[in-house]
Amino acid sequence: MPANIRQLTVKDKPALMQILHNTPEFKPAEVTIAEELIDCHLDDPDGSGYHILVADVNSKIAGYICWGPTPLTEGTWDIYWIAVAREVQSKGTGKALLAAAEDKIKKSRGRLILIETSGKPEYEKTRQFYLARGYDTVSLIPDFYAPGDDLLTLQKRLTP
Ligand SMILES: CC(C)(COP(=O)(O)OP(=O)(O)OC[C@H]1O[C@@H](n2cnc3c(N)ncnc32)[C@H](O)[C@@H]1OP(=O)(O)O)[C@@H](O)C(=O)NCCC(=O)NCCS
Repeated sequence: MPANIRQLTVKDKPALMQILHNTPEFKPAEVTIAEELIDCHLDDPDGSGYHILVADVNSKIAGYICWGPTPLTEGTWDIYWIAVAREVQSKGTGKALLAAAEDKIKKSRGRLILIETSGKPEYEKTRQFYLARGYDTVSLIPDFYAPGDDLLTLQKRLTP
């Protein structure tokens, strides 16, 4: 069943936290940061600088995406977080969430989208996901997160 993409509400938070806790790629400290961004958005959806959409599949929350304008830039936006529940991955939900966020960024006159991710083997599927959606790897900082764990920046240019 195709995902229904909609705005986040306060009631959705427990389901999102469950998805984050059940995502093996995320370390506990990363889940804490992801939660802070969710709370910032819920406290002030329009002014926080963090935008969030969720995806329902069969009336159940299947994932979410969080993004925002990059401070001190003109038309550059960051995608901070995307996660899809393990049991429904690889069924098109991530693609639907990313396309919806890109559409919103375009409507806000965004021109560049950046995504930071890890170079670890566990993130190979995630990298393939972005590369297949038109993102290019534009920088690599070796050993950024930890020895042997590089920071990759992926970029997509939006056409008006
Ligand atoms: C990355 C993630 C959001 C993608 O969501 P998803 O719903 O699983 O992905 P979709 O089904 O929408 O997209 C499928 C695409 O992803 C890639 N993909 C999916 N499964 C794959 C696999 N097993 N191996 C390689 N690529 C795969 C392909 O590019 C595929 O595109 P295609 O359908 O055109 O072939 C999801 O897998 C996830 O939450 N991963 C863990 C958390 C994470 O890494 N978040 C990003 C942090 S930067």
